[in-house]
Amino acid sequence: MKLTVVGGGSTYTPELIDGFARLRDTLPVEELVLVDPATDRLELVGGLARRIFAHQGHPGRIVTTSDLEAAVDGADAVLLQLRVGGQAARLQDETWPLECGCVGQETTGAGGLAKALRTVPVVLDIADRVRRANPNAWIIDFTNPVGIVTRALLQAGHRAVGLCNVAIGFQRKFAAMLDVAPADIHLDHVGLNHLTWETGVRLDGPEGRNVLPDLLAAHGDTIAGDLHLPRPLLDRLGVVPSYYLRYYYAHDQVVDELRTKPSRAAEVSAMEKQLLEMYGDPSLHEKPALLAKRGGAYYSEAAVDLAAALLGGGGSPYQVVNTHNKGTLPFLPDDAVIEVQAAVGPKGASPLPVAPLDPLYAGLVAAVTTYEDLALEAALRGGRERVFRALLSHPLVGQYAYAETLTDQLIAHNREHLAWA
Ligand code: G6P
Ligand code: MN
Repeated sequence: MKLTVVGGGSTYTPELIDGFARLRDTLPVEELVLVDPATDRLELVGGLARRIFAHQGHPGRIVTTSDLEAAVDGADAVLLQLRVGGQAARLQDETWPLECGCVGQETTGAGGLAKALRTVPVVLDIADRVRRANPNAWIIDFTNPVGIVTRALLQAGHRAVGLCNVAIGFQRKFAAMLDVAPADIHLDHVGLNHLTWETGVRLDGPEGRNVLPDLLAAHGDTIAGDLHLPRPLLDRLGVVPSYYLRYYYAHDQVVDELRTKPSRAAEVSAMEKQLLEMYGDPSLHEKPALLAKRGGAYYSEAAVDLAAALLGGGGSPYQVVNTHNKGTLPFLPDDAVIEVQAAVGPKGASPLPVAPLDPLYAGLVAAVTTYEDLALEAALRGGRERVFRALLSHPLVGQYAYAETLTDQLIAHNREHLAWA
């Protein structure tokens, strides 16, 4: 089995390698290719990756290259984890929206749109090359904004599934609270990527008993504290929103915080510098503890599980993924991309039925789906007016004067990445 990681020079990659090494029975990788244009980073990351495999007795071969064609040739699955423009572009996404009093974040609001516009054309180009090399290869997309990128891939007819670690994070956390194995926890997870709610927490599969009320009663303070949301709000809602909902439910508070705190991009850049220094140390043969300070906890396990299911080697039968709606949420178009539990296997992902969604959440999901649709239009076809329409439709922007200013800012800060600008 050959697997290729596009953006393999990411400082996140040792997390993935650690997962491949630990879970080699689930996913027996023979060749793992890390491909990245940044050769310096790639060699540091690749060196550590080889030492992790060797240390754990993994027989697989790790190849590093900057040649995408060679990297994807014959690959059974290709993982996309790239960041167009790197942390420098992320810093911009987190900064200029704040001038309008809007959230500055790399996956939502105006910053998320900027990232989508930079990313979609690059990902589609890579996906075309993957398909030419091997039409049967599966594309697993971690590249943000995952909902929009996955929709772009599916719309272009690619064999793609979008993945995020928010659900697996909750699964692991709730399992620890309930003192059961993670595999015994089935989440009723519903919404769009980075716009989800856990509406039920079941023991023993999709038909199991819903223990969310008990979980909130026993651990509500911890759950609320981790989300930086008030406990009484969780009790009133009776569901657990993902931490990305804080950009909506505590918008003004978040904007105040973002204006006063150092940016996440700056924090991550400092961490990356330290991590790369560590990776260069030939005596290091495991992922360093510092990596846990990044947001990607458990993403390796989610990736292994999904790749194993898609490639027919096992993996959990139900997994939370991003895929076409196909009537699951009846108020959305069939070709909207939603993030829900799905049956996954060699034929791909097929959403499990979802109970009627409370209008409180359905309204926001519908509005953000419209935004994602307009954002994809802007990413595929370009043009100032399409950017403006996407921004005006976003619930976190909404006002024409802000949409106007943000459009200008987005274009000014991203011109080098936008072919049409
Ligand atoms: C979580 C999200 C990812 C996001 C990451 C950011 O894992 O699900 O989509 O990329 O956080 O983490 P970072 O350490 O880069 O801030
Ligand atoms: Mn995510």
